Formats: sequence, C-alpha cells, structure tokens
Amino acid sequence: MIAKVRKAVFPAAGLGTRFLPATKAQPKEMLPLVDKPLIQYGVEEAMQSGVQNIIIVTGRGKSAIEDHFDVSFELEHLLETRSKKDLLATVRAVSDMIDVSYVRQKEALGLGHAVLRARELVNDEPFSVILSDDVIDSEVPCLRQLIDVYEFYGAPVVALMEVPTENISAYGVVDAEPVAHAGGRDRLYRVRNMVEKPKASDAPSNLAIIGRYVLTPEVFRSLDAIEPGSGGEIQLTDGLKHLLRSRPIYGYRFEGTRYDAGDKLGFLKATVEFALKRHDLGEEFRCYLQGLKL
Ligand code: UTP
Repeated sequence: MIAKVRKAVFPAAGLGTRFLPATKAQPKEMLPLVDKPLIQYGVEEAMQSGVQNIIIVTGRGKSAIEDHFDVSFELEHLLETRSKKDLLATVRAVSDMIDVSYVRQKEALGLGHAVLRARELVNDEPFSVILSDDVIDSEVPCLRQLIDVYEFYGAPVVALMEVPTENISAYGVVDAEPVAHAGGRDRLYRVRNMVEKPKASDAPSNLAIIGRYVLTPEVFRSLDAIEPGSGGEIQLTDGLKHLLRSRPIYGYRFEGTRYDAGDKLGFLKATVEFALKRHDLGEEFRCYLQGLKL
C-alpha cells in the first residue's frame, strides 16, 4: 500500500538577496501579499491538500515566522478588550491553524541542504516540499495535484511549468517524456534527466521545476551523497538527479498560475492579482487601477 503524505517541509532559510533591502532583517517568507505573509499561503495550500503536519526550516533572523504561527497573548488581549471580534478571529485562526515544528539550517548552503535538515522530523515516510515564494493560484491546490499523481504511482513527483527560453537558466530543468495518464490530460511526464540552472543553449526542454515536490525518504540518502553544485550550494535538483538512478521520478505540469514572489516584479504582479480577487478590496482597487494614466 502507498503511504499517505502527511508532512510538508517549508525551506525558509534562504538569504532572499533578490529582495534586499526588505529581506535584510525580515525573512522573505514574511513579505505580505495584500495582508497575509507568503508562507501562510503555502501553509494553507498544504492544509487544503490534506497535509496537516508542517515542518519549517528556518535560519538566522527568521524568528518572525515562529512568532507568526504562535499565539500572541498581548495582541489577543488588546483586541478582546477593544471588542475587535473579527480581527481577533483572524489572528486566532493563524495560531490555531497548524501543528508546526521548526528545524534550523545554520548556514544557507542550498535548498537540498535545507531539505536534508528536515530528515529527522520527516523520518521514514513520503513528504512534500513547498517553496513559499512560489505562490500558486489554482482551483485544485497545486500540492494536491501532485499528491494525486504520487498516490497513483508511489514515486516522487515534481511540479513543472513551461518557461520561455530566455528565462530557463534561472530554473531546474527536466528532460522528460510524456506519459498517458487517465486524469492527467497530457500533463504527466516521466523524468529522464534534470539539470539545475542550465545555459539556455544547453537546456534539455522548456519544462522548469517549480517549488512543489512530493518526495520519498530515499531522497535523503541522495542529498547526503552529492557534492555542492550550481552556486556552490547543495541543490535539490542534483539530489533528485542522483535518486533518478535508482527510482522513477514523475513531473506534473500543474494547472494554475504561478507567481515568483521572491522576485520584485513577480511579487508586484501577485499583489495586484490577489488584491483584485479580494471581495473587500477588489472593486475599489480595480477602479483605482483603471484611473491610472498608464
Ligand atoms: P531561492 O534561491 O529562491 O531563495 O530558494 P533565496 O536564496 O533565499 O533567494 P535569492 O535567490 O537570494 O533572492 C528557494 C527556497 O529555498 C530556501 C529559500 O528560503 C526559498 O524558500 N532556501 C534556499 C533555504 O531554505 N536554504 C538555502 O540554503 C537556500
């Protein structure tokens, strides 16, 4: 029987250099899209995908993340005495939301290294990884789409997206062959090879790996075995490439829109789109945008 995916690992120990100076003293995972930090969108996606057990890999200067998911007695007391019931409920919903554990990555040695730090908490079971700066807006949560594939094949699955050639060298890229799959409508691939941040001329395809993964615990052995790769970091892509020698890995071209909220322009686009969708803000915001002389 295929084991259930119960845990989600959130690597959040990167330096966020693309978003300096905002990320000098504040983790990029806490940057708000409208009024919710990026990591909360990711945690909500995990929960909506049926994954309740959250493991956050934090680094130096990341205590804001822990505080965010913790109970804030002072704030709750203040809101209670001022009879701000709606706000109190919003604040409580965050701390009531999840069963969360933290593990530290002392140095930002790469995404693969961050995932490896979660090894003891994950233990010997399949798990998911969510990079919360990849914000995905979709009808069915992106992670759920991957878990559905995992539950069919019992093998690791990575999220894929078509990316224009001029941008491909910013991503992990797969060489993959399409697989016929009942519910998949031409979205499923079997990965043949993968390469982290290839030159555009060397990229094996235009299918990039996006920040959602369902992995099996053997990936830890692979991450242990590999040497630092692109940028001198232990890359998750390299770990998966190593795993590919002994296991099949699938890719799923998910349905939905992805925003790279770790990048300034991507973040701005996500902010506008999410604000326009809000019931309480959307209409007024739309009028404002329409009034801009662009
Ligand atoms: P990124 O490459 O997008 O994040 O890593 P970064 O290094 O923080 O950002 P830039 O490129 O300098 O702006 C993807 C994810 O992996 C985590 C990051 O926090 C982010 O969620 N990460 C990366 C770690 O947890 N540890 C690392 O050593 C590297």
